[in-house]
Amino acid sequence: MNEKLEKVIKFLDDAQTYYLATVEGDQPRVRPFGTAIIYKDRLYIQTGKVKAVSHQLKANPKAEICAFKDVTWIRIAGELVEDDTREVKTLMLEKMPSLRRMYNEDDGNMQMFYFKDAEVTFASFVAPPEKFNI
Ligand SMILES: Cc1cc2nc3c(=O)[nH]c(=O)nc-3n(C[C@H](O)[C@H](O)[C@H](O)COP(=O)(O)O)c2cc1C
Repeated sequence: MNEKLEKVIKFLDDAQTYYLATVEGDQPRVRPFGTAIIYKDRLYIQTGKVKAVSHQLKANPKAEICAFKDVTWIRIAGELVEDDTREVKTLMLEKMPSLRRMYNEDDGNMQMFYFKDAEVTFASFVAPPEKFNI
């Protein structure tokens, strides 16, 4: 895993919760999320096809996430692309076993998205911002 992705996933794992913003028409929508995994040098998140968030991403894949920990926050802005690869679903379920209570690889609901051409910003009260793409 490259250094940038390493830094991103460590921050998200440490923060535990991030907030995922999507767009519905001209209305921003935001909700807490916790799933995050790196697979083949991409950052993936997980949701369910039945959720409004999934319908919003289908209509408009633009999304942004934000998480905060200690004095630092991260924002990741880009497009979320669905990936139906079974292996990444399995890895996600292995990373967060409690998800198995609600999802499995073949339930027709579990959905994985990766960030495409995303801009990452680390910002802090104590240091200048750092930007890079993943
Ligand atoms: C701490 C926390 C983490 C969550 N993580 C996820 C997640 O990774 N994926 C997911 O689909 N829902 C997750 N949820 C549940 C969603 O926030 C919830 O289903 C939300 O209503 C989905 O947005 P929507 O109603 O716009 O579809 C989480 C909830 C909490 C409180």
